[in-house]
Amino acid sequence: MGYKVMGITAGRKNSNSEFLLKEALIACEEAGAEVTFINLRDFKILDCIGCTSCTKAMSEGRYAGCVLDDKDDKKKIMDVMLAQDAVIFSVPTYDLMPCSAYLSFAQRSLSYETAFLETIGAIEHKDRIAGLISVGGSTRAWQSMALEGLQATMFTTDMKVVDMMLATRVPGNAQALLDDEIVARAHKMGENIMKACATPPEERGWLGEEDMGWCPNCHSNALVLGEKQWDGLHYKVECQVCGAGGNLEPDGKGGWKFVIQEDGLLKDRTTIEGRAKHLEEIGVTQGGFFANPENFAIVNEKKKRYTQKQFKGID
Ligand SMILES: Cc1cc2nc3c(=O)[nH]c(=O)nc-3n(C[C@H](O)[C@H](O)[C@H](O)COP(=O)(O)O)c2cc1C
Repeated sequence: MGYKVMGITAGRKNSNSEFLLKEALIACEEAGAEVTFINLRDFKILDCIGCTSCTKAMSEGRYAGCVLDDKDDKKKIMDVMLAQDAVIFSVPTYDLMPCSAYLSFAQRSLSYETAFLETIGAIEHKDRIAGLISVGGSTRAWQSMALEGLQATMFTTDMKVVDMMLATRVPGNAQALLDDEIVARAHKMGENIMKACATPPEERGWLGEEDMGWCPNCHSNALVLGEKQWDGLHYKVECQVCGAGGNLEPDGKGGWKFVIQEDGLLKDRTTIEGRAKHLEEIGVTQGGFFANPENFAIVNEKKKRYTQKQFKGID
């Protein structure tokens, strides 16, 4: 049987994100994939309420699901999504970043932490592949956190991003169809996804433009000045998405390049091992808070200042 590929969009009906996604999926179908397509706008997705009952259960080795599981369509979608070999996400850019319809969906994935679900046998291990499409009215300048925002939502479900594309300067409804290059690039994404599916997981690598972005590790275009981390680690410059650490160096062509230092991938968020470092941090920071009963007494006393204070609201 062919590979299973799913397309998830959050764009307007019959417009840019939907059509570019369909173009990519057509390439997958041509290569024999079994394709599923959904637009999140057709589903009810509630926001994560931050109760953390899912992660509290995980820390005790239990699977509790999400308290909202039977209140909306998230679980129905995840049951299908997690059974795929690859997923292509195609999302409009609103205010420089992925639109909220997508982010609401993605930020409900904490209870589907795949590394945990696989460990307890709730789901089978799959080396999942992802392709990302961001669609906006402007150039990279006004889509500065679009692909990067999508990338950041891939970690929880352990999706390996093998290709990304930015569809620029297509503000109008279905305007992307005027640009043959953009449409061809979307088709190429589908081909790349199929190529990745046919490659053994340990050999899968980046299939997008080789020089895309600053970061040679995740190809994001977003770097930040590093600051001292919880454990004292301090990189001069960090990739905002994967957390790679290093510095800028002359590229020999009059420009600059981001060079990852020797221990710069210690906390690489695109890997399970790298993310485990963050679990250590949570253990120390959150675990430390819960472990000391004195903390509750102090917080309970101090919070009266705020719980008792009321301001005018809006009726
Ligand atoms: C609320 C809102 C905010 C937007 N913000 C941006 C933006 O920051 N950058 C950009 O390039 N386009 C922005 N756009 C334009 C959309 O990304 C663009 O219309 C895109 O084609 C929508 O994709 P769709 O046709 O698949 O819905 C914005 C559109 C809306 C409605």
